[in-house]
Amino acid sequence: MTTMGCTIKLLLLLGVTQLLNSMDSSSSTAAHRCFCQVTGHLDDCTCDVESIDAFNNMQLFPKLQKLLKSDYFRFYKANLNKPCPFWSDNSHCGLKDCAVKPCKPSEVPEGIKSNSYKYSKEASNDLLECEKAENLGAVDSSLSEETRQALLDWNRHDDEADRFCVVDDEESPDAQFVDLLLNPERFTGYKGPQAWQIWNSVYEENCFKPYTVKRPLNPMAAYREKDGRAFYRWLEGLCVEKRAFFRLVSGLHASINVHLSARYLLNDNWFEKKWGRNITEFQQRFDADMTKGEGPKRLRNLYFLYLIELRALSKVLPFFERRSFKLYTGQPAQDQRNKELLLELLHVAKSFPLHFDETSLFTGNKEEAAKLKEDFKLTFRNISRIMDCVGCFKCRLWGKLQTQGLGTALKILFSERQIEALPKSRSTLPSFQLTRQEIVALFNAFGRISTSIRELENFRSLLSKVH
Ligand SMILES: *[C@@H]1O[C@H](CO)[C@@H](O)[C@H](O)[C@H]1NC(C)=O
Ligand SMILES: *[C@@H]1O[C@H](CO)[C@@H](O)[C@H](O)[C@H]1NC(C)=O
Repeated sequence: MTTMGCTIKLLLLLGVTQLLNSMDSSSSTAAHRCFCQVTGHLDDCTCDVESIDAFNNMQLFPKLQKLLKSDYFRFYKANLNKPCPFWSDNSHCGLKDCAVKPCKPSEVPEGIKSNSYKYSKEASNDLLECEKAENLGAVDSSLSEETRQALLDWNRHDDEADRFCVVDDEESPDAQFVDLLLNPERFTGYKGPQAWQIWNSVYEENCFKPYTVKRPLNPMAAYREKDGRAFYRWLEGLCVEKRAFFRLVSGLHASINVHLSARYLLNDNWFEKKWGRNITEFQQRFDADMTKGEGPKRLRNLYFLYLIELRALSKVLPFFERRSFKLYTGQPAQDQRNKELLLELLHVAKSFPLHFDETSLFTGNKEEAAKLKEDFKLTFRNISRIMDCVGCFKCRLWGKLQTQGLGTALKILFSERQIEALPKSRSTLPSFQLTRQEIVALFNAFGRISTSIRELENFRSLLSKVH
């Protein structure tokens, strides 16, 4: 595994050196300026961009798209009305393209509505069943109620401790089902200082940055050469894990921007609204010249993020393979077909020969590693809270979903032992659980990254026609 996988140390160490070396980009064709460094070996590890492209675009992407259209995966429950905990939320954007249309209760399959409660409590219910059987005939049921509460609390605590994300309380009256197919992630017009503030607080205050480095307010804008170098210097001083963290965040940011460029609002008038690819927008975010060498690095970070999430999917297979696991919507035949499709997809994910090896993360001495993992978790949770500050509802929805998806991927990667123990632990409380909300977020978030990789191919060919 270690020899096959890319070792993260190499990936990161070489990555940073390469970043520094490649600051001075030579002018050349438009396609070259975005993609010149996005080719070949990914920071000299065994994974190369071309294998990822071929694997994703031909094998994984079509299956995943099909799965995400199913009822189980299209309905995501989120609370979009949580107040921003960090600064006073000024405008809730008036842009109509930002609006999210929640589902009417009648539009959500019965099975999903009732299940989101039942499912998350599945573990404790199993135990309660046993307990009930033992207590049959007992007169006093208050003890049982107490035990029940204790169990639920314990379960909740247990779950919380593993999480890399703050999750919305699905039972809150403010939480609503959203049909993701009807609310696609695309250009909304939400940009400028407000949007920058979000990314700035993510990068500046939540990426383990040891000191303040001057950056332009717009995080996607070009650095001045000097600042650019200074910016990457702080990364050099960090341990591999913290650099990995930065790359994940940067990859997520890049992915979102690929989508906004691919679903740009091209035509907006009284008779039609048309979304499509905008090459200029793409170039402004990823062209090496226009971003002082930043753009291609952002794209490489996108591939890094892809490898991490792909790895999580391949690891979580035993959880979904359990007989008792169902993609429950209340339509048994369809649920069964979808489960088969899901397993097929996970086997494809597992078959990828160049998996990333995460075992080199958190390998320092035990205490150090535990501390670091805790820091990682807290910081990531804080980022998920920042998503409640995103002014545009549609961006907030997708921001929440994608951070929750990445958080779930990290939770999986750091629960390897619990997942391996799953098939054996039948009677006791399984120590690894995913809620429906986490599952939906995990696959839809990966769907976004996978779509971004697919879109890059389109931009690559469009740009090859531009000079
Ligand atoms: C959480 O994020 C906020 C907003 O960026 C920041 O002010 C705060 O220091 C962060 N807290 C932690 C624990 O990282
Ligand atoms: C494409 O994006 C650029 C830069 O954001 C913008 O100025 C331009 O109007 C967009 N083109 C179209 C056709 O919308």
